[in-house]
Parts: sequence; C-alpha cells; structure tokens
Amino acid sequence: MNDFETRDNREELDRQYSYLELLKKVVEGLKEKNKRDITACVETFGCQMNARDSEKISGILKSAGFTVIEDENADLTVYNTCSVRDNANQKVYGRLGRLSTFKKNNPEMKIVMCGCMTQEECVIDKICKSYGFVDLIFGTHNIYRFAEYLYYVYEGIDNFHFDDNDSNLYKKGNTIVSRWEDTKVICEHLPVDRKYPYKSGVNIMFGCNNFCTYCIVPYVRGRERSREADEIIEEIKGLVKDGVIEVMLLGQNVNSYGKNLENPISFSELLRRVEEIEGLERIRFMTSHPKDLSDELIETIKNSKKICHHIHLPLQSGSSRILKKMNRVYDKEKYLELALKIRREIPDISITTDIIVGFPTETKEDVDDTIDVIKKVGYDNAFTFIYSKRTGTPAAEMEQLDEEFVKEQFDRVLECVQETARKQVTKIQGQTLPVLCEEVNKQDETLITGRLENNTIVHFKGGKELIGKIVNVKCNECKGFYYFGELAD
Ligand code: 5AD
Ligand code: SF4
Repeated sequence: MNDFETRDNREELDRQYSYLELLKKVVEGLKEKNKRDITACVETFGCQMNARDSEKISGILKSAGFTVIEDENADLTVYNTCSVRDNANQKVYGRLGRLSTFKKNNPEMKIVMCGCMTQEECVIDKICKSYGFVDLIFGTHNIYRFAEYLYYVYEGIDNFHFDDNDSNLYKKGNTIVSRWEDTKVICEHLPVDRKYPYKSGVNIMFGCNNFCTYCIVPYVRGRERSREADEIIEEIKGLVKDGVIEVMLLGQNVNSYGKNLENPISFSELLRRVEEIEGLERIRFMTSHPKDLSDELIETIKNSKKICHHIHLPLQSGSSRILKKMNRVYDKEKYLELALKIRREIPDISITTDIIVGFPTETKEDVDDTIDVIKKVGYDNAFTFIYSKRTGTPAAEMEQLDEEFVKEQFDRVLECVQETARKQVTKIQGQTLPVLCEEVNKQDETLITGRLENNTIVHFKGGKELIGKIVNVKCNECKGFYYFGELAD
C-alpha cells in the first residue's frame, strides 16, 4: 500500500475544467482585440515522457482556443525542458535568448517554461534573475494545473485569492512560479492533443525510486507511483475508439509497475489485459530496468500477438565495478545472462540500450567490459552518452575524469555500437514483414515511411491512404539503419 493516488482526482479535474472555461474567454477576448488567431507553440526537449506531457500542454492550449503552430515566434511559446544531461540545459538557455527577441517585437507574447529543468531550484533562480521576460514557470508535478496558471498569467496574479490550493505559487518580478517538490495526485483526463492519430503514449506510472547515482530523474520526477490498471485500460479503450492502433506504455521502470497498488498487479498482467483490447494492434513499452525484468514478462511477450518484439534494456556500463558505483543492482554477468535469455526465447526480438561513457573512475578496462557486452548482445541500436555531472546526485561528488580520455573511450564505444547495429539490421534483408505506415516521406512524396515491429524504419512506394494502417512490406534494400521496401499485399 502507498499513500499516492492511483486514480484520477475528480475534484482537481473539475477545478481545472473551470479554469479552462475562464481561459477560453481570455483567448476569445484576445482574438477580438487583435482581429486574428492567437497562436501557441510547444517545444519539447528530451524523452518520451516529455513528449507525452507536451501533448497534454498542447491539448489544453487547443481547448482554450489557441491555434497551435510549430513556429516559436508565436503569441505564446512553451519550452518543455529536459535536464538529464547538462548540454540539454545549456541548449535551453541559448534558445531563451532568441525568444526574448521575439518578445521585443511582440510585447504581448507570453513565455512559459516547464519540465524537468524547472524542478531544480537553482534553474528557477537563474531564470528569474537573468531571463525575467519568462512569464510562467512550473515543473513536472503540476502540469495538470497549466490552464489555471496560464489564466493567472493573462489576468494577473495579484487579483486572486489562493487559499491553500497551491502554497508553492508565488511571483518573482514578472514571473509567476510554482514548483512542487512531489505530488500524490494523478489527473490524467484533461484534453490531450495527440501528435499522431494512430499511435499514442500512455503513462502507466510516474517517477522513479531507483536512484542510479548519476541520474537526476528521481529528484525531478518524484517517487514511483503507478496508475490503477482499470484507469489505464479505460484510457486505451478510448484511444482505440479514436483511431489509435499502437500504444506505448510509458514509465521510468515499467517492470516495477503495480507493486504498490492497493491490489498489486504485475506489469505482465497489465500487458495481458491490454492485449485483450479489441482493435488495438501493437503494444510497446519503455523503459525496462534489467534488475526487475521477470521470466513472466519474457513469456508474456513470447505468447503475445500484439506486443512488439522490441525491448529497450539500458545497460549503462558493462563493468561490474562501475555498475556497482552506479547503483544499478545487477552486474555484467547477470545482464548478459538476461539479454541472452531474451534472445534465445524470442529470436527475432530487437534489443536496444543506453550506455554512459565516462562515469567517475571509469578506466579503459571498464570500457573494454562495455564493449564486450555490446559484442555479445549484438544490440540493434544503442544510445551512447558522455557522462554528465548533475549537481545533487551522488556521482557529482566523485572524482571526475579527464575530458580528452572520455572522448577517446566514447569513440571506441560508438564505433562498436554502430558495427553491431549495422550487422543486426541486415538480418531481415529480403523478409516480408508488417509495417505501420506513419507518414508521407518528406523528401519523396511518392514514398510512405513506416516502422517494423522491431522499430526499424522502412520506406516504400505507396499513397497517403495507407497512413495509420499495418501492411506487409518486403524489406528489399538495407541502407545502413533503414530499408527501402515494396508493398507485398
Ligand atoms: N549523464 C549521461 N547520461 C545520463 N543518462 C541519465 N543520466 C545521465 C547523466 N548524468 C542517460 C542514461 C539513461 C538515459 C535516459 O539518459 O543512459 O538511460
Ligand atoms: Fe534514472 Fe536509474 Fe531511474 Fe532510469 S532507473 S530514471 S537511470 S534513476
């Protein structure tokens, strides 16, 4: 049992819908005054979680009457930020400068910052001090209050009486700020503006309890909390009714889903319930922590007709010594045993991973171990990152490595990853496989771009009527990491 909410908080939802009504009137007034549409742009940095959060932000904006566009030079621009590595933070500061120029030309422009970066107190201080033109800052826990906050931005905060609804809300200079340390509330049934009509992310849990020593996520996304399975199933059924055929179940560590619910249920059980939803054709999930991946899950994937044969299994390092320092709770042997078992049980599965190079104290020999694992698992793809020191995490207190040395090691790992990925992708050459048609190819409009179950991209001749459908495509020509194919139906 935990003391988190696992179902939507109806009272909060009602409050937010009433703010949405108020916001609609504000936007209506702006349209009348300016005799034109009022535009908004949501710019997303970072992971799938952020992408999903941006769909929620955009959903609220559209419902309020904004015309959502992709140009940051809009009447309202939202930066949904990432802070997993420092270069993500630096990129945002750089881009904020450009926004200030837009605001000079359109003084009524509003600028909003939210996401993981703005969960950090020091970031908020810096923005208020050096980027005072930002109108609103909130974090990851209070996205569902966006309509309410935005209403304050337009109508002025001083006119409102807040009771104890949000004791963290304050105004510094011209910036309205609300940063919550954590939340117990789940509030999912607000409008969502899905980027793709035929596929959607679905949050099954929030936060992370793992505290890997390099990672800032547990500090900015809070403690792990699962949503009730019934609520998830209802949401997916609604999406399917709306034309969705593929869902991606999202959580920082989906394998520990459901452990703290009042009636605990395993991730495999959840998957089996999702599988039963009629009309749903593909199920994906992200991310699996190797320490919690059960035999039951491997069996469930193996026996399923809908779960895609793709698993993202972050390695981080192949060295048992470094893994221990990272607090990953598995060692090289355990990881290899698991990955090879998955390959044995589901031979056509694609395995992808995340790797960090340059963790404090890492030696050339440690990196040799990482390369050894890459070769033995034969990853289909790997995201390779240079370790980034995140203030507040335990690894930030450890002795850091020389940049030049890290760069050399990074290049070695990258080369090895590319070699194995290239080898893996050629394995399906000549096979006819189901492809979900995603979009008309941007370079050549006679082509459709789609994805195989294992996430490989395939381009083939076809019309836009195929978008959102699953068709069989012969994978003829391997072009490095993608294919040119032909329609086989
Ligand atoms: N430095 C570099 N990479 C990191 N990641 C998380 N924290 C850091 C960091 N401090 C990587 C991990 C994780 C992915 C989402 O980002 O590999 O799996
Ligand atoms: Fe970060 Fe580790 Fe949690 Fe992943 S499992 S979000 S790397 S702390």
